[in-house]
Amino acid sequence: MAQQRPDRTAAESLGERTLSVHGGNQPGGPGTPIRVPITMANSYHLPEDPSSLDWSNPDHVIYTRNTGLNQIALQRKLAALEHGEDALALASGVAALHAVFFSHVASGDHVVVSDTTYEATYKLWTTLLPRKYGIEATFVDVGDPDAVAAAMRPNTRLVITEVIANPTTKVADIEALAAVAHAGGALLVVDSTFTPPPLYRPLEHGADLVIHSLTKYINGHGDAMGGAVIGSAELIAPIRAEAMVDVGGVISPFNAWLIVRGSVTLPLRLAQHCANAAELARFLEADERIAYVAYPGLPSHPQHTTAAAQFGERGFGGMMSFALDGPPELQNRFVSELKVITSAVSVGHDESLIVHTGTAGPRVAAYPEPFRRLGHLRFSVGIEDVEDLRADLAAALDAACG
Ligand SMILES: Cc1ncc(COP(=O)(O)O)c(C=O)c1O
Repeated sequence: MAQQRPDRTAAESLGERTLSVHGGNQPGGPGTPIRVPITMANSYHLPEDPSSLDWSNPDHVIYTRNTGLNQIALQRKLAALEHGEDALALASGVAALHAVFFSHVASGDHVVVSDTTYEATYKLWTTLLPRKYGIEATFVDVGDPDAVAAAMRPNTRLVITEVIANPTTKVADIEALAAVAHAGGALLVVDSTFTPPPLYRPLEHGADLVIHSLTKYINGHGDAMGGAVIGSAELIAPIRAEAMVDVGGVISPFNAWLIVRGSVTLPLRLAQHCANAAELARFLEADERIAYVAYPGLPSHPQHTTAAAQFGERGFGGMMSFALDGPPELQNRFVSELKVITSAVSVGHDESLIVHTGTAGPRVAAYPEPFRRLGHLRFSVGIEDVEDLRADLAAALDAACG
């Protein structure tokens, strides 16, 4: 008979690194693998009498678009990491954003959205969802909870924000926003991609649903896309049924497996991302050829106090934006001189990534002045040796500025 082993999923009392290794793992008996293997199967054996099965039931392991062994393993791990009751894994971060909006908002509803977010959130709420479904969105500065309160309407269903905004690094006060959302009868939806656990856990501060692009820090190795929503079982259930089973935003078993594997080292990587970013932000800010550095860990950051109160004792994340004092050609020249830091999109990979973004486009109007005038270099600081990153930045500055 299989030996009973302790269930290691009641994980909130575990230390962060133990939680990342064991959280969500299910105990097995002798002869069973200690990690969930990749199951590249679309279909699973049916029971003897399948005729009365509900084919759309997301709890039946019958078809990978309903659920599957690797999705289940990933979802258990994510729920454990975020201290949430339930989690849903999807094909990408954008699929997760869309899934929440699709399932929790209907025609005639209204949402309040941060005026600074990842581009897809902006696009979903400026064009796609209002045009296709007649949902109204008001964009506000979430750094001002009074402005959020003023934007609330009787039909406001969601308040949507990022903790640290992509790309300006504006920091939202999650407890203040939760109070405003709940006073107006709305849910607070938080994209916490830039502040993965254990850096911050929005559900513990009043958020109702947390979204991650798993593509970023949680996988961490730049080799798999995924997205997730974490929250109460009651709020996750309609998203699972509608956006996954009915609309099909399912993650592949292979990507789910890779992300479980990547997430094991999340706290170790995050500590290095945070330490490297803090040092490089100070280094860049001290150089007179740099016009500005936006990093929540710098005292010069407009929401430094809010960031310090929310997660400062664990670090300020690995993301910053900055610009050289000069035209776009100078920013490009600087990036082209970098030898260790890679010019590529995405964030939260093990390797440092940088992207030069100019001053065009509708979103830029909501950015702070130096972003509007100079554009920005979005810098996702990796886990390399900080001395190598600093030397790379210094050499590229010298080469670009002459
Ligand atoms: C804050 C944030 N949310 C969501 C996404 C979308 O994630 P994905 O690219 O996995 O769809 C991104 C991507 O950069 C992001 O930065």
